[in-house]
Amino acid sequence: ADQKIYQASTTAPVNIAVVKYWGKRDPKLNLPQLLNLSNSLQADLRTHTTAACSASFPASDSLLLNSSPQDVTGARTQACFRELRSLRAALEASDSSLPELSTLPLKIVSENNFPTAAGLASSAAGFAALVRAIANLYELSSSPTELSRIARQGSGSACRSLFGGYVAWQMGTKDDGSDSLAVEVAPASHWPTMRALILVASAKQKKVSSTSGMQTTVATSELFQRRAEIVVPKHMKEMEKAIKEKDFEAFGRVTMMESNSFHSTCSDTFPPIRYMNDVSWAAVGVVEDINRKAGKIVAAYTFDAGPNAVIYYEEANTDIVAGVVKGALGSVSGWESRDIKPQASDVLDA
Ligand code: PMV
Repeated sequence: ADQKIYQASTTAPVNIAVVKYWGKRDPKLNLPQLLNLSNSLQADLRTHTTAACSASFPASDSLLLNSSPQDVTGARTQACFRELRSLRAALEASDSSLPELSTLPLKIVSENNFPTAAGLASSAAGFAALVRAIANLYELSSSPTELSRIARQGSGSACRSLFGGYVAWQMGTKDDGSDSLAVEVAPASHWPTMRALILVASAKQKKVSSTSGMQTTVATSELFQRRAEIVVPKHMKEMEKAIKEKDFEAFGRVTMMESNSFHSTCSDTFPPIRYMNDVSWAAVGVVEDINRKAGKIVAAYTFDAGPNAVIYYEEANTDIVAGVVKGALGSVSGWESRDIKPQASDVLDA
């Protein structure tokens, strides 16, 4: 038999939601309750993944993440493998000159250049890179939007990491999820002066997984109802306009109000969910001070399902934002400098 090793590599960026996804209308297919929008980070946080297959590999599929073996038997990973294999099988059926890769065991090797599962949407970059690496290995001609349908089944927010730049995840209306896809709103190059700074308040794994958190929020929070009916549709409209017009004040205002609204519904969940910690709130205070001094919004914070702050600003304001943030929160290292070490902020998180 053919013992050849076939392989392909790719990378996918971390994406941070500026209009948050929270709530699944179908937990198996990861269909969102609401439209949402993200951008990928300018600070180069990525998952690098190589996918290989060969008849010479052990019979079962495997995945190494940052050198440690991961369970691939879970329904989410299996769904991605199954979908990609069936696309490859269709290709092989239509062209008999193609090698039969769809039946070979897969070996996936991934590396993150950022802390895993600390609210930096690591599963998003992870599943997006996994899906695209296998799609490349199988030489599928699928577009990023088509691949987003598959990555979504690994982790909801992963569908947005098939693109860089500004990406909307459409809810779709079909029960099979075939129209719940990610589409590009604008490429990163549309707004070249946009910058983001990440403050890693804690590199610890989060306590409440987003899947169980979402279910409890949808089931118990009255505030979530208002968010679904009024707040998110309004923020989506405002955000798309702000991005289109490169209006940082509008972008920043909606980004901060969105983050506040999302974390309020977390507090309103019963039992309550708390992702932001004291370091997170210190970052909020610093951003407020910066904006007060500037007399307008020049910096904007947002927090996903973890304590780490993402702070957006425009390049021209690097000194009055990034400089001040670093000075004020000196004990919390920013990703820009890439010198993450155990630090005082970990103590605050305890
Ligand atoms: O896709 P998940 O299960 O990692 O959920 C992501 C949830 C948030 O990060 C809080 C919001 C979002 O839209 O990314």
